[in-house]
Amino acid sequence: MVYFASKFIVVALAGFAAAAPLRLTRRAFQEQDYADFQISDGTAGNAQAEANAVFVDPFDGVDLATVDDATLKAVQTMREAAESAETDQFNPQIDAAFGDEATALQNGKIKNKVLKLTGEIQALNIQLAQAQASGDDTSSIQSKISEEQTKLNNNISLDQKASGQPSKGVTGGSAASSSDSSAAASASDSASAAASTTSAASATKTKAANTKSAKASKATSSAAVATPSAPVDAATGTDGSSISFPVQDYAAFQISDGTAGSAQEHANAVFVDPFAGVDLATVDDSIVENINTMREAAESAETDQFNPAIDAASGADADALQNGKIANKVLKLTGEVQALNIKIAKAQAAGSDTSDLESSLADEQKKLTTNIATDQKHAGEAQKGVA
Ligand SMILES: *[C@@H]1O[C@H](CO)[C@@H](O)[C@H](O)[C@H]1NC(C)=O
Repeated sequence: MVYFASKFIVVALAGFAAAAPLRLTRRAFQEQDYADFQISDGTAGNAQAEANAVFVDPFDGVDLATVDDATLKAVQTMREAAESAETDQFNPQIDAAFGDEATALQNGKIKNKVLKLTGEIQALNIQLAQAQASGDDTSSIQSKISEEQTKLNNNISLDQKASGQPSKGVTGGSAASSSDSSAAASASDSASAAASTTSAASATKTKAANTKSAKASKATSSAAVATPSAPVDAATGTDGSSISFPVQDYAAFQISDGTAGSAQEHANAVFVDPFAGVDLATVDDSIVENINTMREAAESAETDQFNPAIDAASGADADALQNGKIANKVLKLTGEVQALNIKIAKAQAAGSDTSDLESSLADEQKKLTTNIATDQKHAGEAQKGVA
C-alpha cells in the first residue's frame, strides 16, 4: 500500500516538475563516498536488501531509460569504489587475519561483492533501458547482465548461509584514514575515479603474476600434480593449467558419512592434495579465501548441525554422529592449517614477520593431531554426517 502510494507521488511530482525533469531524476540517486554506502559492517545475511537500498530502491518508479549520464556515471563510480575496496583492502586484510577476525572480514567481503554486483547490474539495466528506447541492439548487454546476475545470486546465497555471523568492513577505525583517496575524494571527480581504476588494474596484474609463477612451479614438479578437472574458477586463471581450487558446497566435500578412522586422509584429499607440488608462496590470495570459505562451512556444520543433532540423538545414532563430528573437526582444522601454511609461505617470501601465524599454526596443529588420534581410536565404527 505504502509502496504503491509512494510510486504515485513520484509520478505526480514528475508531472508537476515537467519544466525541470532532469533535476528530479538526479535527486533520485545521490552519489556517495564508499565509507557512506558500504554495507559490510554488522551482520551477514541481509546483503541483498542492503545493496538494493543503495543501488536499486532510489530508482523505484523511475523509467530507467530517462536516467541521465551523470547519474549512470555515479552508479558506475560507486561500483568501482566497492571493487577497489575488495582488491586493495579486503583481500590483504583477510590474508593478514585469522580466526574470528578473518571470518568476519570474509563475510564483509561477500557482502561487498553483493553490493558491487548489484551496482554493476543496475548500471547495465540503465544502459539496457536506454539502448531499448533508442532501438539499439541489446544482446551483448543482456548476456552481460545474465552473467553478472549468476555471480550475484551465488554471492547472495553465500551471504545468507552466513546469516547472523559478524561481518566486518574495511572503512572503520584507523584503517579508513590510511585507505586510498578515492573514498575521501568526491567520487564525481573524474580524477579520483581514474585513480581507483588504476589501482584495481595493478592489483589484477599482481594476481596474474602470482598465478603465472604458481603455474611455473607446478610445471617443474609435473608428476605430483593432478590434472585440474574442476570448473575453472575466476581466481585461478582461464587456461586450466594453473591451480584450480574452486569453492565447493559443504555437502560436496564433507567427510563425515561412512566409517571412522580415515579422516586425516579424507581431509587431506580436500585441502592438501590439490596443492601437491605447488610452491605455497605462489598461491593466489583468492585461493586462500576459497579455503577459508570452505573451512567456515565445516565450522558452521559443527555448531549449527552436529551439536544439536547429537543432543537430540541417543544410542548408536548419537555415537555415529559423534564420530562424524570428529571427522568434521579433522576436516575443518586441516583447512585452517592449510590456509595458515599458505599465509606463512607467502609472508616468508615477502620477508614479513611470521611469528603470529606460526603460533596460530602450532595451536591448530595440536588440535588437529588430537582429533586425528580420536578418529583413529574409533576406526571401523559407523559415522554419520549432517549434509
Ligand atoms: C561472487 O562474485 C564474484 C565476483 O565478484 C565472482 O567471481 C564469484 O564467482 C561469485 N561467487 C560465487 C560463489 O559464484
